[in-house]
Amino acid sequence: MRTQVLIIGGGPAGLLLSQLMHRQGIDTLVLERRSRDYVLARIRAGVLESGMVDLLREAGVGERMDREGIVHEGTYLALSNRGFRIDFKQLTGGSVMVYGQTELTRDLYQARDAMEGQVLHEVGRVQIHDLDTDSPHVTFTKDGRAQRIDCDYVAGCDGFHGVSRKTIDPAVLREFERVYPFGWLGILSQTPPVSEELIYASHERGFALCSMRNQNLSRYYLQVSLQDSIEQWSDDAFWDELKRRIPLAAAESIVTGESIEKSIAPLRSFVAEPMRWGRLFLCGDAAHIVPPTGAKGLNLAASDVYYLSRALQQHYNDNDDHGIETYSATALSRVWKAERFSWSMTRLLHRFPDQSPFDWRMQQVELEYLESSVAAQTSLAENYIGLPY
Ligand code: FAD
Ligand code: DHB
Repeated sequence: MRTQVLIIGGGPAGLLLSQLMHRQGIDTLVLERRSRDYVLARIRAGVLESGMVDLLREAGVGERMDREGIVHEGTYLALSNRGFRIDFKQLTGGSVMVYGQTELTRDLYQARDAMEGQVLHEVGRVQIHDLDTDSPHVTFTKDGRAQRIDCDYVAGCDGFHGVSRKTIDPAVLREFERVYPFGWLGILSQTPPVSEELIYASHERGFALCSMRNQNLSRYYLQVSLQDSIEQWSDDAFWDELKRRIPLAAAESIVTGESIEKSIAPLRSFVAEPMRWGRLFLCGDAAHIVPPTGAKGLNLAASDVYYLSRALQQHYNDNDDHGIETYSATALSRVWKAERFSWSMTRLLHRFPDQSPFDWRMQQVELEYLESSVAAQTSLAENYIGLPY
């Protein structure tokens, strides 16, 4: 078997890249470790920057998103009972789209099927070979049989735990990491959202976030200890704690119900450099992780795909390798700015186990300053809606 661009990972980054390449007449094949049902059952991100929204439309997968997604022109920040709004539209002219990663992935699979794109599921023992030559190849097992695919390039879209990043020569690879001393407990419930816009709430007891998927599907998160397990958090305990951390008016009006999903995610900042090694490109979580506070993880995967799809188009259609040579530097420049924003939002809104009363005052006064300063709000808004590609 042979393809032009072999894509490892059938998450949002791999599927979107495959879809964009296909529309440019470039041949790809996607290898995914899990079953399609497993990939589609994962509940993850929910906020799309407008750059990502445009890229999805360009890929021909924007139709349902445009119909069912909800445009948000602002968000609320709260400190205990005091809340204020950041007006994205007024401050920057921009907005974001609330549309679940699960739905988006479903749309991408449907589009791949409609174009007869090749996605091989439940592949095992994926290994990348000869990346420093002009003719790399990838080996893997499928239904117990060993297989080999030759290709021009490999796109490593296989998430944080994938094989691609680990293939890079350790003498070249640099990794930067911060692991945070808490996690996010998230639930999904078939209840109307408490607010028309998201609420990011800082409280003495810890951070809380009120988000949504649609008019009857809400997504809520609580900062929890890394020692906590989901068994310790009954639905009632979750709702009680959420109500303590959000402003009173929201706590009094929130509609609670049974959770249909509950999980705890750790928080991490991570960047691997470079994002290209020979004929391998890293895209999305394979190269970087952000704590979820700025809603940037999925959006960064999309901007990487944007730069890489342009670079590969230039290579195949114009015989120009400039985009390939600059891919790593271009993608990393945007990645680090999103890392900075995600880290600063996390630091601003969470309680840290070792923080002093001074640190807590600094967090409070930073929120007070944000509430009073158009300049500070503009900076937050331009980062939240997404820096330009
Ligand atoms: P992934 O979605 O991880 O896709 C990688 C794919 O590669 C997976 O399907 C995996 O099965 C496959 N794979 C892995 N190894 C191999 C292999 N060896 N061979 C073949 N295939 C392989 N972001 C937000 O902005 N907001 C959130 O609320 C949020 N919540 C999250 C919750 C969790 C539990 C996690 C893990 C992430 C969350 N994120 C969130 C981040 C966001 O979901 C990711 O940034 C986004 O999924 C990145 O897309 P990706 O395609 O790069 O990676
Ligand atoms: C969601 C997750 C986030 O991390 C965030 O910042 C905003 C929304 C969500 O899952 O809806």
